[in-house]
Amino acid sequence: MRILFLGIVLTTLLSCAPVFAAEAEDLAEGLRLFTQKGNCQGCHGWAGDGRKMDNQMPSGANLRESQLDRNNMLMTIKCGRPGRGMPAYDRLAYSDGRCYGQKKADLQGVSLEDPPATLQPREMETLVDFLFAKIVKQGPMDRTRCAAYWGSDAEVCREFK
Ligand code: HEC
Repeated sequence: MRILFLGIVLTTLLSCAPVFAAEAEDLAEGLRLFTQKGNCQGCHGWAGDGRKMDNQMPSGANLRESQLDRNNMLMTIKCGRPGRGMPAYDRLAYSDGRCYGQKKADLQGVSLEDPPATLQPREMETLVDFLFAKIVKQGPMDRTRCAAYWGSDAEVCREFK
């Protein structure tokens, strides 16, 4: 009986391990998309708190305090915010009505920021998962969260006590 129980526990643990590994990999990929490919940090800051990394860039919103749900977050990344400095990351945004039923001509000269790179649909999903796991509603950044965020007590974490 005891051996059977142990067997069940072990099988359950072993079948979960790849899931945790996949999750950690996705989060690492999300961090890369946020800091590098999408350069979200240029306007939103590496912690997503709105303290931007690049003075030449528009000031992004504080994503840590965002009230958006998953769907609206995804739409905002895909379609940006015309006229408000938030780029559209979907390569086909405003080409076929997928963004709020609008096409380029409907924007009527309202400026749309160019993204540093467009993102694949799967990349945007990964990014949103990352945002909800590590940034949105995670409270203000502090030393402990900073170390967890970078996976080590990184140089940038020294600013926190
Ligand atoms: C060029 C600067 C810039 C870049 C790059 C940028 N953003 Fe933004 N973002 C903004 C600005 C400015 C706003 C505020 C728009 C407004 O006033 O409505 C914003 C708003 C947002 C919002 C809406 C927040 C809310 O609560 O309403 C989300 C979500 C967001 N950005 C995510 C991202 C992500 C993810 C990336 C990277 C893929 C990114 N942004 C890259 C400038 C930027």
